[in-house]
Amino acid sequence: MSLKIIPFAKPRLLRLSRAYGQYVWDEVGRRYLDCHTGHGVAFLGHRNPKVVESIKRQMELIMTATPAFQTDIADEALSKLSKILPSDMDYVFFLNSGSEAVELAMKIARKVTGRKRFIAFRNSFHGRTMGALSVTWNPKYREGYDPFPWETRFVPYNDVDAITSEVDESVAAVLFEPVQGEGGLTPATQEFAKALMEACEKAGAFLIVDEVQAGFGRTGKIWAHEHLNIRPDIMVAGKSIGGGFPVSVVAVKTSIGERLREGEHGSTHGGNPLALAAISGGIDALIGDSVPLKASLSGEKLSTELKKVVECCAHVARGVKGKGLMLGIELRFPPDEVIRELQMKGLLCLKAGTSVLRLLPPYLITDEDIKFCSETIKEVLSAWKHEREVPKHDVC
Ligand SMILES: Cc1ncc(COP(=O)(O)O)c(C=O)c1O
Repeated sequence: MSLKIIPFAKPRLLRLSRAYGQYVWDEVGRRYLDCHTGHGVAFLGHRNPKVVESIKRQMELIMTATPAFQTDIADEALSKLSKILPSDMDYVFFLNSGSEAVELAMKIARKVTGRKRFIAFRNSFHGRTMGALSVTWNPKYREGYDPFPWETRFVPYNDVDAITSEVDESVAAVLFEPVQGEGGLTPATQEFAKALMEACEKAGAFLIVDEVQAGFGRTGKIWAHEHLNIRPDIMVAGKSIGGGFPVSVVAVKTSIGERLREGEHGSTHGGNPLALAAISGGIDALIGDSVPLKASLSGEKLSTELKKVVECCAHVARGVKGKGLMLGIELRFPPDEVIRELQMKGLLCLKAGTSVLRLLPPYLITDEDIKFCSETIKEVLSAWKHEREVPKHDVC
């Protein structure tokens, strides 16, 4: 018997052999425009030269060291991160994945507040480890894994009344995505975000902002919550911050960081020197190439073109969703077959919620790429016949 990977991921039936910038190539040299980017990881472009150079340099020096030891690369990563994190956050901890970062954010909230309950939102996605899963809404992911470590109450997203009445003094923290990613590309409203922050302040609950998918420039600001004028108590980021290298970060307000003690958490690989070099190179790219501005401008263009596609394919498409370069078309049916057909035509996309065709392209996407993307989607959707319509409101 040959060894196999446990088939948790639905096979794409595509063998990737190399990648650069906004493109990937298959084994016979065919090029694809990559709007999948490994669930949004390669937002800085595949093998971003600044990230690659930084990792290569570090490989010649030291490849492993835990945070118990000081290293130049840790100083470098901290110094660059301090320039882009919210100004009242003076403590960070590095981990390897978004789920691990969410997990630590929840542990910190649990420990510091002494409370055991969490609030999350319908259609939220925060990861698959047990703590992160406990605040992930989709029943499909949760089924068979209970009991969860903490009690979570899921309330409707963008519902001011619900959040005001649910956040009380029993709540350790509220987990909040400024733009819901997996759940269907829904941005939070200003009004909702303001009510959420006020409710947390009043109840003494922490506001944990999950920037794993929307953060690092993708929505047109470095952090997506900047659009909403809110101040997180704890912020988590992952995916694109390492330019393709696995790394995540938890940042906490100074007042919270000062209450955390030796031994309360740890990770063998978290903050690995290569991961820190990836963050350092990633931040150079983010700032040096004005990534948020470019994402905002390209996002506007892509959104305009996608709206034209929706107009002419109203029999199958309901509208455009998302923000910046976190965009999608809400279809009237599950997008799986459409995604397969787009792949055959050289465009890689993914799904969000039950019915959203999701695009998470690198910021490097050009006008020509945008034209190719929208024309290919139009070609596929205009010829599409669908049989069963799913309800409008996204339910994962
Ligand atoms: C908002 C959000 N939080 C957390 C996660 C979990 O990240 P990871 O898959 O790196 O564990 C994801 C992954 O898609 C995400 O979109």
